[in-house]
This record gives sequence, C-alpha cells and structure tokens, in this order.
Amino acid sequence: MTTIDLRSDTVTRPTPAMRAVMNDAPVGDDVFGDDPTVNKLEERVAHLLGKEAALFVPSGTMSNQIAVNIHTHPGDELLCDLNCHIYNYEAGGPAVLSGVTCRTLDGDHGILDLSQLEDQIRNPDDPHLVKTRMVALENTHNRGGGRIYPIEKIEAISRWARKHGLIMHLDGARLWNAIVATGIAAREWAKHFDTVSVCFSKGLGAPAGSALAGPKATIAKARRVRKLFGGGMRQVGILAAACIYAMDHHVERLADDHRNAQIIARAIADIPGLHLEPPEVDTNLIWFRVDREVGNAKDITARLKEAGILVHAAGSQKMRACTHLDVSKAQAEQTAEMLRKVVATPARVS
Ligand SMILES: Cc1ncc(COP(=O)(O)O)c(C=O)c1O
Repeated sequence: MTTIDLRSDTVTRPTPAMRAVMNDAPVGDDVFGDDPTVNKLEERVAHLLGKEAALFVPSGTMSNQIAVNIHTHPGDELLCDLNCHIYNYEAGGPAVLSGVTCRTLDGDHGILDLSQLEDQIRNPDDPHLVKTRMVALENTHNRGGGRIYPIEKIEAISRWARKHGLIMHLDGARLWNAIVATGIAAREWAKHFDTVSVCFSKGLGAPAGSALAGPKATIAKARRVRKLFGGGMRQVGILAAACIYAMDHHVERLADDHRNAQIIARAIADIPGLHLEPPEVDTNLIWFRVDREVGNAKDITARLKEAGILVHAAGSQKMRACTHLDVSKAQAEQTAEMLRKVVATPARVS
C-alpha cells in the first residue's frame, strides 16, 4: 500500500532530477563566502524579492530568528498574530535568543488588520515599558489555514509601521504559494518589508534551506548572527543546488497542490460533522474541525492511517491536511473518498 502523506508539505523527498543537480553542484566553503552555488542562490533570491542581498540558512526558523535578533535589542517587543509560527512553533526563540517579548494580536485566521495594531505602540519615554520595535507577518499563514494576506492590508500596515519607525519582517515560508495563487510578483509582496524569509523545503520540495533577504548592511549583520546561532555551513552548495532547482521547476506547479487541496476541501465541506476552518481554502493547507458526535482528531487520524493516509491531528478536534509535490490528483481524490468512509463509519469502541 502506498502511503499518502498529508501531514505537512515538509515531507517531500528530492526528485531524481533534483538529486542529479545536487550531485553535480560546484561547492566551496560557504563560511568563507567561497561556495559558488550558494552565492548564485543568494543572488537569485535577492533579485527575485527586489532586495539588495540574501543569506542562505538551514531552516525557516533560523531565518526568522536571525531577523528578530538583528532588528531588536533585549527588552524590545515584537507585534505579531496570536497563531503565527514565530510565536508558536519556534521554541520561544524571540525570548530565548533575543530577549524579545511577543505581543500577540488575534487576527482573522492569522490576518491582522491595521486597526488592531494602531494603538499598540508603547510610549518609548516611559521607563516602565518594553519598546515596540517590529512587526512580523506571515504569508501564507500556516495556522490560519494557508490563508493569503490581502496585499492592501500589508500595504496599510507597512505604511503605518514605517511612519512610526517600526521594522517589518515577513515570514514568507510559503510566500511561493501566495505568489502562484494571486499572480502578484515576489517583489511586490516583499517591498513592504525590511526583511523577508522564504523556505525551499516546504512546497518547493528541497530537502532543507531557507533564505533571508533585505538591505546589504542588514544581511551582513545577519551573516554574523547566522554564525552565532550555529548556522554557518561549509560545502552547502549541494543543498543550494536543490533550492535553485526548486525555484526553477517547482514554483508554478504549486497550482496543482492548490487544485488538489480543493478536492479534499470540497469533500470536507460536504461531510456532516467536519468543518473547514477557515471555510475557504486559499492554497495547499486544509485545516478542519471535527464535531464530537463523529469522533475526535486522534481517532480519525488513526483510522485514516490504517488506510495508508497520514494527516495531522492538531488538538483534540482540529486536523490539518496538506497537499504537496508528492501528492497526486488521484491521491487527493482517494483521500476525499476515504474521509467520507471513515467519518460515515461509527468509531470502534476500544
Ligand atoms: C509559516 C512557517 N514559518 C516558518 C517555518 C519554519 O520552517 P523550518 O521548519 O524550516 O524551521 C514553518 C515550518 O513549517 C512555517 O510553517
């Protein structure tokens, strides 16, 4: 039985063609700046995002945490959505690595509106208070159900932030999905931010890697912090080659993942007892809630697993399925069918 792994888009494996370019990649010591393939990737990313420079790092978490570190001082405050990755899934990085507190605001499935931020800047002259220094947004928003940030909202937040001297950072781990779904170019999104992180190991299918892009002087600082955080790698052109390959071959095809996500989403919308959250699926992440009457996330996950389908139980009643490079249209249809069967069959009493 072939497993259909919908737990995350990070589970993809490098394709044979990707492995071939990895094998052939020219390499050097990247801590010395000598790896030609890494240098090429960094130039490509910077150009694509309309920034002066970019830095290759091992993971999206490191990209984000380097950004927080270079933009802040201990005792500063970061404004972000309550469900964002930087706050929830990076092991308390802002506090641990940078002495920064996160002030979270409850966005609409991850999407903040300027009106929620406007009153949040603390008086810098009051010695009691932390200093509000930066804003971090996430696009697409993972826990927000893969939602795409409306660009007008980003524009408004950015204009306000710049007026008040706040730094803007974008966690663009899945910015590629937003680019493909909207047709809005990478640099159009990126121009509203001081720094942008992107990932190659989610929908793009590379085995690892992320990049942080921004002004030259900022990225020079980031290079130092990457070393501090233990992210200086050596002949890492073999990974950068996979990332370049992914940018060349795996971006446009994200539209397939979005179409396949719709197949699963439509089934969920039709199955009594399951509810899409949010009700519209914008990209490749499908979050849904299970009514207690039809079971719980753990039970449904276990029963799907028996049928060779892996999904993520994200709490007692909440689940996530995620389409990607290694999930075909037929497998999305098979998943939709199996969900119908599993939810229609009463749970076994164990
Ligand atoms: C929105 C978002 N940002 C950042 C990351 C972190 O990426 P990594 O797992 O490479 O550290 C993830 C990982 O899933 C993510 O979903």
